[in-house]
Amino acid sequence: MKKQSNPVFPRDFLWGGATAANQIEGAWNVDGKGMSVADVAKFKPNVDKGDYKAQWHVSQRDIDEAKNSEDEVYFSKRHGIDFYHKYPEDLALFGELGFKTMRVSIAWTRIFPNGDELEPNQRGINFYHRLFDEMLKNGIEPLVTLSHYEMPLHLVEAYDGWVSKDVITFFNRYTDIVLKEFSKKVKYWLTFNEIDSVFRHPFTTVGVQEEKYLTKVAAEEAIYQAVHNQFVASAIATRQLKEYNPEALMGAMLTKTTTYPETCNPLDIELAQKTNRQNYFYSDVQIRGKYPQHILNYWRENSFNINVSEEELEVISNYTVDFLSFSYYMSLVDSINKADKEIVGGNLNQGVKNPYLEMTDFGWQIDPVGLKISMIDMYDRYQIPLMIVENGIGNYDTLTEDGKVHDPYRIEYFKEHLKQVGYAIADGVECLGYTSWGCIDLVSASTSQMSKRYGFVYVDLDDYNKGSLKRYKKDSFDWYKQVIETNGASLYEED
Ligand code: BG6
Repeated sequence: MKKQSNPVFPRDFLWGGATAANQIEGAWNVDGKGMSVADVAKFKPNVDKGDYKAQWHVSQRDIDEAKNSEDEVYFSKRHGIDFYHKYPEDLALFGELGFKTMRVSIAWTRIFPNGDELEPNQRGINFYHRLFDEMLKNGIEPLVTLSHYEMPLHLVEAYDGWVSKDVITFFNRYTDIVLKEFSKKVKYWLTFNEIDSVFRHPFTTVGVQEEKYLTKVAAEEAIYQAVHNQFVASAIATRQLKEYNPEALMGAMLTKTTTYPETCNPLDIELAQKTNRQNYFYSDVQIRGKYPQHILNYWRENSFNINVSEEELEVISNYTVDFLSFSYYMSLVDSINKADKEIVGGNLNQGVKNPYLEMTDFGWQIDPVGLKISMIDMYDRYQIPLMIVENGIGNYDTLTEDGKVHDPYRIEYFKEHLKQVGYAIADGVECLGYTSWGCIDLVSASTSQMSKRYGFVYVDLDDYNKGSLKRYKKDSFDWYKQVIETNGASLYEED
């Protein structure tokens, strides 16, 4: 039989890494920045690490405490890794690594500290000019998320978050400013990070505090209203981007978790199909420009009264996104017989344990082939370019006395996933690039800890904000550098 040749990545493939402002910048109260929902999220060392819901949950008590506290130990997103001051050093490292792109987000609260001001904070704008200039100087194309779990806290408290139509106006005032300022420097944009995560953690995504609603159904209705408002705001931001720079591209951003049926029982298959379709609801709206019928049916069956105007539907239909970006960490398994099964999960998703897969230190199932399956499925569905903007392994790392971090598990993880990206491309999937999550160690979104590390670069900082903040290259740094230098060819060399 003829030996198949190895996949070839496109010549202009965007290799890089990804971050979010609230997990790296720190400087939470510097240069006029206001308080965001991330600044009230607490590191909870005594809560079970596997209990992501409890880890991630922000109670009214946390908020009240946070507003009266300068603490940076437990409110750990306030310190991040001090990227706000150390970005030239970090970008030099990524330049050395060979990054073609880097995903960062803009903290809305640096531009509009409370969210509802009429005039922006110039010092915030200046910071992002400096940041993007420095990226470009290092040969790194910025890829920018407009909203990554960091909305102004004031909008939650005074307006009920994204449930209010006013927040559309405020968000698009912010996007108008930043797109006008930066769309000549930044070609690739994303609107809302993991827009589908609104039901998994409504406070950080849309500023909805579920416990304030009288019933679960009322909270669900509010979340649907909030995400509808985000669809409208996303479409308006796309319109603004095209006005300022028609060449620039806007992407949707989805948490891609392909769900497998546990067996070939048609009822298992039907269940998995339902879960997958729910996952696609968000990209269906942002790419096809209209609501899928099953969602409208669901609203009607539950007597949800979602405020949707004709004008809003028109803007959603006219300003669809240019590409679909997504995070991929794991696949899931669904079953009609869950009761006696072992349940595993991660990223606030849960399913039946897949006996064919291994897990990370934090119990997230590792499924490289699932990445290829997901890419082919998404591309077949939408026929627009894809971009993988998050993928990676959160594990414990050890810094040796001579300043090294040996992380063969991370190299193995990336190698297996990237090989599958190549296979998907060879299959015909159009893929613009790949940015690994947390290319430098950062504060975890769900557990607010530092010791869950994703980076190619180790940051000397522990869960209690102790450490020199010094950066060290891990073994995976040199490995990824070679992958980029060879444009992926080294992935397929024999070990
Ligand atoms: C994604 C988020 O869901 O998962 C990131 O977009 C997050 O912000 C990443 O950091 C990994 O999750 P965690 O909880 O391990 O930080």
